[in-house]
Amino acid sequence: MIKIYRCLVLIIYTVFYSSVAKGEPDLEYGEYLSSECTACHLLSGKQTKIPAIVGWEQSSFIAVMRAYKDKELKNEVMQNIAFRLGDKELKSLAAYFATIKPRKIQN
Ligand code: HEC
Repeated sequence: MIKIYRCLVLIIYTVFYSSVAKGEPDLEYGEYLSSECTACHLLSGKQTKIPAIVGWEQSSFIAVMRAYKDKELKNEVMQNIAFRLGDKELKSLAAYFATIKPRKIQN
């Protein structure tokens, strides 16, 4: 009985931690993290002085964020923000913002 229990615990931990370790995108986590971004970037997809970041293809989104992180793209605000984000955070943000469609009627 105890053996079966230990086996189950091991399986659950393996499944859970392997998905975390690989930095799999997590939509809910992305939505949670996005509140920091939407202080500046509009969720409506409206382009202001600050560019729109919704509905992007995920790999481009991640590539741009990594470029800020590596300081290849020169914007100090974005460099500081991207610097603090790990792979899982970037993938989750990319997955979340990709699900948001720019609105036709913008306000
Ligand atoms: C304080 C305001 C501010 C916050 C907060 C902010 N950004 Fe930005 N972001 C900007 C500005 C300004 C630019 C344009 C920078 C430039 O010209 O390179 C930008 C550019 C970007 C770009 C590139 C857009 C393009 O069209 O090239 C992406 C992607 C992006 N931000 C994602 C994010 C994400 C994800 C977050 C949250 C983790 C975030 N930003 C938080 C102000 C902000």
